Amino acid sequence: MNFLDHCDVLITGASSGLGMEFARQLAPRASTMVLVARRGERLEALQRELERPGLTIHCHQIDLSDRAEVGMLVRTLASEGITINFLVNNAGLGDRGRFENSDWERVRQMLDVNIGALTQLTLALLPTLKAQARSAILNVSSVASFLPMPKLAVYAATKAYVSSFSEAIRAELRGTGVRVTTLCPGPVSTEFGQVATRPTSPDAVSPPDGLRVPVQKVVADALGAVERDCARIIPGWRVVLTVAAMSAVPMFLLRCGLNQRAR
Ligand SMILES: NC(=O)c1ccc[n+]([C@@H]2O[C@H](COP(=O)([O-])OP(=O)(O)OC[C@H]3O[C@@H](n4cnc5c(N)ncnc54)[C@H](OP(=O)(O)O)[C@@H]3O)[C@@H](O)[C@H]2O)c1
Repeated sequence: MNFLDHCDVLITGASSGLGMEFARQLAPRASTMVLVARRGERLEALQRELERPGLTIHCHQIDLSDRAEVGMLVRTLASEGITINFLVNNAGLGDRGRFENSDWERVRQMLDVNIGALTQLTLALLPTLKAQARSAILNVSSVASFLPMPKLAVYAATKAYVSSFSEAIRAELRGTGVRVTTLCPGPVSTEFGQVATRPTSPDAVSPPDGLRVPVQKVVADALGAVERDCARIIPGWRVVLTVAAMSAVPMFLLRCGLNQRAR
């Protein structure tokens, strides 16, 4: 039996993009799915689409930037006896533009969702994950985690946290039965770009279209990586080559590129 067959999975950010695709690809295999996002009506529509005998779907309309709501979600799972063995920390948002022109409320949400909720959920669910023979955490980071990114400064820094944190806890959890995989996608066509674009943002930088990878492939590669217990997965060979090329460039040269991007 494959690792993810009959899994009990919690997916954050299941109302759109990668999260919705994780739900679609896992639905034929999972026993329980807990879908989390703010747009409850989308979660319920997804639940109706994916329902089948043998699968129980729970929808939780939660604002993950609110610690109290995340705490409430964890308590609800415990009180309803829902035991998760696969945590997909996928929810996240970006903000394109110069840092000095940022809106604090947007920055706070990015920090609280991309870093805060991911860390809080991981910590709260670890005892449950460890109590089972086999379990997994999939943290959705980004190729933006590998480099500082002018005009995406806070977002890239939050993803650097996700990649670093995930690798560290993977090492800590070795031998416990809890596997940890980091997904580092390049550009994917979802609502991400639209959400990350400021209403008045003449200085935003969009990613190159040639690096885009279909959402279905990103999710299939990520689930395959969890099954193989890979530490990190970067979907798409062009993205892999770009990351490899960047990592070979000395920092003083990269800074020239960063300075160009910041103009
Ligand atoms: N698309 C890309 O190019 C790309 C590249 C690299 C990494 N990623 C990462 O992939 C992950 C998924 O992004 P996506 O591309 O699928 O974007 P998306 O289509 O915008 O989906 C983002 C999801 O996060 C949820 N979310 C955002 N803020 C939330 C909040 N405060 N509370 C609860 N849920 C919240 C959204 O749900 P609600 O709005 O309904 O709450 C939505 O379901 C993110 O972590 C992103 O950083 C994306």
